[in-house]
Amino acid sequence: MTLENAREITAQMRKVRQSRQYRPDPVPDDVLAELLEIARWTGSSRNTQPWHFIVVTDREQLRQVSEIRPPIRWVADAPLAIAIVLDGANNTTEAYDEGRVTERLLIGARLLGLGGGTAWFGDEVQQQRGKSILGIPPDRAARSVVVLGYPTTSRDPRPGAVEGGRKPLEEIVSYGRWGEPKA
Ligand SMILES: Cc1cc2nc3c(=O)[nH]c(=O)nc-3n(C[C@H](O)[C@H](O)[C@H](O)COP(=O)(O)O)c2cc1C
Repeated sequence: MTLENAREITAQMRKVRQSRQYRPDPVPDDVLAELLEIARWTGSSRNTQPWHFIVVTDREQLRQVSEIRPPIRWVADAPLAIAIVLDGANNTTEAYDEGRVTERLLIGARLLGLGGGTAWFGDEVQQQRGKSILGIPPDRAARSVVVLGYPTTSRDPRPGAVEGGRKPLEEIVSYGRWGEPKA
């Protein structure tokens, strides 16, 4: 890969946003297969690969998931969601692994012309509801689904949506020691 090609990819990575509204078109099988391969190859703590992925396209299941909590209502109109189920053996490392696999799916989706977003079930009771909708065994942990589709916008349609910008680098990076600017 040339540096120029690589920079096209990093430019796309920088543009990965949370998309919550999609065209009704389904996610093609070959695209889904590629995304699942990306997920499978994600690194995890001690290579435990503590995940299982449930592909959800059933409209009724998506509707039920969307009703777990108001901030994820938009899931109802998405063509597909992938639930990330964790082994439930180590909450700290599995939460990290879940974040890694989620971000890889979202980056992969962007590179393949799709968009996506993470949708969290919420508190313990809401997680139980998510697990029951998806038939997940009680000893497993499940907190979220990664929602995928062809986005129509990356605007957040929810009332009271937060600003989508980012803090400037000077505010979030130090050199050598906390608070030190670049020499
Ligand atoms: C841990 C976590 C949980 C999130 N849960 C939700 C959620 O339940 N519903 C939702 O619409 N967005 C959710 N988001 C997405 C964030 O709102 C989004 O990443 C953030 O606002 C930045 O969006 P942008 O990249 O489009 O600017 C979640 C993000 C993270 C990291």
